[in-house]
Amino acid sequence: MQLEDHIGDILRKMQSIFNIDKRAMIAAAGLEESEWAGWIKSGTLSGEAFVRVKWVELGNLIGVQGQRLKAIAEGWQPAQVNFEDWPGLVWIQNSEKETSLKESELNFVNSYLLWSSDNQEAVLFDPGWQATKTLDFLQKNNLKLSRILLTHAHRDHVNAKPVFERLFPEVSFFDHSSFKNLSSVPPQKFGSFSIRPCLAPGHSPDHVVYRVSGFSGNPDSALIVGDCLFSGSLGFPFYSKERLLDTLRKQILCLPPNTLLCPGHGPLTTLQEELDHNPFTTNKLLKC
Ligand SMILES: [Fe+2]
Repeated sequence: MQLEDHIGDILRKMQSIFNIDKRAMIAAAGLEESEWAGWIKSGTLSGEAFVRVKWVELGNLIGVQGQRLKAIAEGWQPAQVNFEDWPGLVWIQNSEKETSLKESELNFVNSYLLWSSDNQEAVLFDPGWQATKTLDFLQKNNLKLSRILLTHAHRDHVNAKPVFERLFPEVSFFDHSSFKNLSSVPPQKFGSFSIRPCLAPGHSPDHVVYRVSGFSGNPDSALIVGDCLFSGSLGFPFYSKERLLDTLRKQILCLPPNTLLCPGHGPLTTLQEELDHNPFTTNKLLKC
């Protein structure tokens, strides 16, 4: 599946997050202003302009590896996750509109279910735009929803919340306000799983990430990372770029490399993949 951000989105975010002068970026890339504007908007350049891009110079100006930018522009994607290694974890992509002729109009968001065969109950991370696919899974597998955990309250992540609350009135609900003023929150137990919430501001002031461990036969953890990081990119720092960088350094990039990252948009990935390929992670401001 496509990455959440194309190369134009990534360059626009880098300009903002690392405070780089736009004209200097255009000059370093060796492009005309009109070519740059089109590239940032659509992520595509004509073949002739693409071969002119000075990736190394552009990367050096930003403080990232230019070859990684080029790899993303040429279609790099993370290796597909084998869900057999993560028993109980379900990835549910859902979209604002149920159907559209153009995939680009669908505006996808990721919801995740964690279910336990011990008690036939499930935890939902981010209700998302639409409840239909999640409800289908719960019904087909005879599961009862017992908890909803929110990464943050942006509309695409919470739109379907009232549907679940109506259908599962006893559901417990957790968001940033459940964890406020706690510097160290004890993990929640759910069947054989352990879920550790962690405040992670930057994309929004209320953002929480959840580290899940206890997968059968797998010593590694999964991190429900919301909109802090996308494969190949980062979430936009709508609240604070400094806080986002701090969150990434302290809560995400320092975790064990085999950690599975479950973002709010785009494909799942691992921390190792992002350390090896995500251009942002080569900037000195993101070193742990
Ligand atoms: Fe968001």
